[in-house]
Amino acid sequence: MAHFLRKTVRDVYTNRGTVLSPLLAASRPSREGHINRAFGTSSVLSDDNKSINVAFIGAGGVSFGTAEGPWNHSVRLEKMPNVRFTAIVDPNLELAQKRVDDLSKGAYGHKWKGCEVFKDHHAMLEASSQEKRPDAVIIGVPPLIHGSLDVPQYAMELDLAKAGMHMLVEKPISMRPAEEVERLAEVLHELADEKKLVIAVGYMLRYNPAIEKAKELLKELGRPVKSIVGRYNCTYNNIYKPQWWHTLQSGGTIVEQATHFVDAMRHLSGSELEKSTIRAVAVGPDMDLSEMPPPPYAEHTVPYDMRVNRATVAVFRFESGAVGSLNHTLLMHGQNFFTELDLFGDGFHIIVRDPYQKPAVFLRRPRSNDYEQVPLDLGRDMYEKQFDAFMHAVRTGDQSDVRCLFHDAARTYETSWWISEAAGSPVPDGSVA
Ligand SMILES: NC(=O)c1ccc[n+]([C@@H]2O[C@H](COP(=O)([O-])OP(=O)(O)OC[C@H]3O[C@@H](n4cnc5c(N)ncnc54)[C@H](O)[C@@H]3O)[C@@H](O)[C@H]2O)c1
Repeated sequence: MAHFLRKTVRDVYTNRGTVLSPLLAASRPSREGHINRAFGTSSVLSDDNKSINVAFIGAGGVSFGTAEGPWNHSVRLEKMPNVRFTAIVDPNLELAQKRVDDLSKGAYGHKWKGCEVFKDHHAMLEASSQEKRPDAVIIGVPPLIHGSLDVPQYAMELDLAKAGMHMLVEKPISMRPAEEVERLAEVLHELADEKKLVIAVGYMLRYNPAIEKAKELLKELGRPVKSIVGRYNCTYNNIYKPQWWHTLQSGGTIVEQATHFVDAMRHLSGSELEKSTIRAVAVGPDMDLSEMPPPPYAEHTVPYDMRVNRATVAVFRFESGAVGSLNHTLLMHGQNFFTELDLFGDGFHIIVRDPYQKPAVFLRRPRSNDYEQVPLDLGRDMYEKQFDAFMHAVRTGDQSDVRCLFHDAARTYETSWWISEAAGSPVPDGSVA
């Protein structure tokens, strides 16, 4: 095939006309990328010794581990004091029960005692006794089935917020049009204020020691960042999920994956990307991947128009005037990703290297030719720190270290679609899959 060209389903970003409520407008994410606020009481569990009931929505890889990466929310959470697990929700009841059985035999088995399994979150909400009612839920499900305001069957976050539950939601937070997700974010924000809830999103790189150090160095240097280069290069031979290979089921390579770097760029620069400046090109699915998982585990049944790109390069400007570029590839073999961010300003260069596996930071200071490796505190990993902040907020109402609330993540979601669309990928048009 000589040329790869796909049609855009619909430009969902025109005619937005979304009006922010005064409450939300007053508390949009600050330049620091998150909001500092402390709640009163209500859903807040101020007694340090009270156990927090936690439920998992989704019994899959992100919450229970895979061979693919360092994520595994349950193993981080079970080590925390005063936590117990009361439910795992998954239509695959057998898998959910297996998770309970396996973890019940482990070092923290007592925390899983009596953990129930449910086929969906409605069944959990209906069945849970007061004693087992979750205080907090961890949502790690296929993007397609959550994050909606308009389609009741995908309105999981709305249902759980109405039921007064704190949430940590995995990215991508939805697969609905960005303007709908923005409206959902407004509603959730108001419910969070009313019911004193923490509704956070797992953009965990904000807790990564290398990203934290880069942010600290920018502050210390006192010079604005003027150019950011992000390179997110992943391995593809372990991705055994047909829906992952479908752009409008997973989000595709930018919305599903490089979104972590889109978020890191927003977080580090303290600025938003300007949609009108984004230009992008991609190597599309006409390129064969020699180590793609065999049928039916990858894209073999995915319509050609919906298959994911192999390589994407985007350039853009931030509202601050800085410029940026993002390079994503789905080309490498094995397990280890190559990920790196470069931040340049007058006289300085900060390199954030390999934040997933071996985080490191190198700095070239103004009036210097040399690079120094900046020491990092590698004592606790980014997922642990994310859950510490989340559970502390659930327990006390102090959200000052919850670094990505839902409406902040909604902006990363929207921005990621802008880049994907600029690269010629389809975007959600609001039809129900
Ligand atoms: N932040 C990170 O580091 C990170 C890492 C991996 C995955 N993720 C994200 O987490 C999400 C889940 O990924 P995964 O790897 O766990 O996927 P997975 O396919 O391994 O697991 C998803 C599970 O959700 C279940 N499910 C489907 N419909 C459901 C419903 N209505 N209610 C409850 N459960 C339902 C499925 O049966 C499956 O067991 C994805 O959005 C992914 O991008 C984030």
